[in-house]
Amino acid sequence: MKKAAVLLVLTMAVAFAGCGSTPQAGDAEGGNESNADSVSTTEVSDGGDILSDGVLTVGTNAEFPPFEYVGDDGEPDGFDIALIKAIGDKLGVEVEVENMEFDSLVASIGSKIDVAIAGMTVTEERQNMVDFSDSYYQAVQYVLLPAETEIAAAEDLAGKTIGAQLGTTGDLMIEDFEGATAKQYNKAVDAVNDLISGRLDAVIVDKNPALVFADKFSEEIQYMDFNFEPEDYAIALPKGDAALADAVNNALAELKTDGTFDDLVSQYIEN
Ligand code: ARG
Repeated sequence: MKKAAVLLVLTMAVAFAGCGSTPQAGDAEGGNESNADSVSTTEVSDGGDILSDGVLTVGTNAEFPPFEYVGDDGEPDGFDIALIKAIGDKLGVEVEVENMEFDSLVASIGSKIDVAIAGMTVTEERQNMVDFSDSYYQAVQYVLLPAETEIAAAEDLAGKTIGAQLGTTGDLMIEDFEGATAKQYNKAVDAVNDLISGRLDAVIVDKNPALVFADKFSEEIQYMDFNFEPEDYAIALPKGDAALADAVNNALAELKTDGTFDDLVSQYIEN
């Protein structure tokens, strides 16, 4: 993105061009990189210009293994991070990852971040604010329960205290259960900790993270699949930027054809 910087360079180039005596690198024989003429005005036009500075700023919430988590080096890692970096390679841009709260991702597109990848489900509500790439993964909500529980089916969630990560599809589902109390957390793992300590009856979270948590705390909790509606993960994009959407979708398609996508699935998800 860095639109402000591009604008500044353009303004300066125009200013320099207006006062002929100012020396600049482009005046040297052969090179004209910093001449006003060579500064393309398309860089500051609307739409399709997000990639023009060579940096794609990507928002995520690295609290969602195996799609995104903070790696041993303190940097976001996981399937989504590897996927967006591979897309960046195809597009010839550098990918900068911003780790932020899940609930602020959609609203930050177009200001703090260019796009978001966060195991984000395509929903109608989100589509009012952002566009989505082609879907890259199908998921479903799972229910995490204490090892000992009477809950055996979705209807048993009525009247229960249920935790979820704030603003997620799992969170939005809780109101479907008659008389249930919703408790929202910034991180799914904090809900899991409250489940383990008995403050919650259940946690609703996407399948793959549920499997990771159930495996990590296998003594204390278990997961169940109550056959909720399947959900599609996609990359959230600025609304109306068809050029960017095309570029991202083409890169995604190429990664599927050349085998990179499947390699990432086996490396991060099905291992
Ligand atoms: N798929 C769910 C949703 O879109 C949960 C995503 C949570 N992702 C995360 N990185 N914390 O609402």
